[in-house]
Amino acid sequence: MSKDQEYQPLISDTLEEADVDSPSPQSTPICKFSTWIMHSALAVLVAIETMALVVLIAILLRRPSQAACGMPLGSQKVLYSPALSAVEHEVQVYHLGFPGDLSPFQIHSSPELDQMWSDLYNYGVSRITKEEAAHLPNKTHAIPGDPGHYIAELDVFHNLHCLNKVRMALDPDYYPDWRISTSNNHIPTQKNATEHVAHCIDWLRQSIMCHADTSVIVWQWDPRANESLVKGNVAHTCRKFDKITEWAKQRVLVNAYDPTVHIEDDIVVPILHQEMS
Ligand SMILES: *[C@@H]1O[C@H](CO)[C@@H](O)[C@H](O)[C@H]1NC(C)=O
Ligand SMILES: *[C@@H]1O[C@H](CO)[C@@H](O)[C@H](O)[C@H]1NC(C)=O
Ligand SMILES: *[C@@H]1O[C@H](CO)[C@@H](O)[C@H](O)[C@H]1NC(C)=O
Repeated sequence: MSKDQEYQPLISDTLEEADVDSPSPQSTPICKFSTWIMHSALAVLVAIETMALVVLIAILLRRPSQAACGMPLGSQKVLYSPALSAVEHEVQVYHLGFPGDLSPFQIHSSPELDQMWSDLYNYGVSRITKEEAAHLPNKTHAIPGDPGHYIAELDVFHNLHCLNKVRMALDPDYYPDWRISTSNNHIPTQKNATEHVAHCIDWLRQSIMCHADTSVIVWQWDPRANESLVKGNVAHTCRKFDKITEWAKQRVLVNAYDPTVHIEDDIVVPILHQEMS
């Protein structure tokens, strides 16, 4: 079980809401201490508490009915993925990527660099069990000739594939197939690459926004420059990429997948509740 799966529904929030919703108790009479007034005050308090209880029960009853017709993300934090069990975190400091702190990927286009990129995702298509497929928020297809197994790809590998294509498009002298058209230069034979790269850039935009990294870039005083300078080499919370690749490599789809074979099954995916979007 990963940490992501350990989150509990926020029952306490529900209780607080009920408290806020319930009317505030009226002030009790302070001059007359007759038993009649005491009893009246008590009756009012009991009535208010009963109302509060009814409101609370109504809220509590409404929640499960939402859950039954969907999966409110509020109580689940993340959607199911068979790879959640492989999620572990670690602190990482990125390479700045400027001279002095280049990453191993910042070399010229070459078979060696192509291999390094390919090694990041070329095992990305997985075979998962029917049990795992049945828990996905989206339906996937059975693998023909592999009973009880379904095809799946973790999006991180698609993201990496996409970034690699953008990289290749930026070096069209080395990768002529990935030369793309520009605003002033529409070449029909480049339509495929142009559309593919446009798809990839927008996919990566959405992925970056989806994951909204809240790690903090800082400014630090630099006595030599006599000014504070922005510092990118800060600590990030990262998912251990090795654990994710290990998960994928244990499940890599080795046999050819025949997309022309349709296999019916009884898996019904849940309809997600509005809250998720
Ligand atoms: C996947 O699930 C989401 C949420 O229910 C839905 O909006 C989307 O259309 C589904 N996509 C596919 C391909 O099933
Ligand atoms: C465009 O891409 C598709 C699949 O990515 C491929 O089958 C097709 O041959 C490509 N067309 C051209 C003109 O490169
Ligand atoms: C640093 O900047 C301050 C304010 O601009 C200036 O007064 C000071 O002389 C500078 N010090 C050095 C060592 O350049």
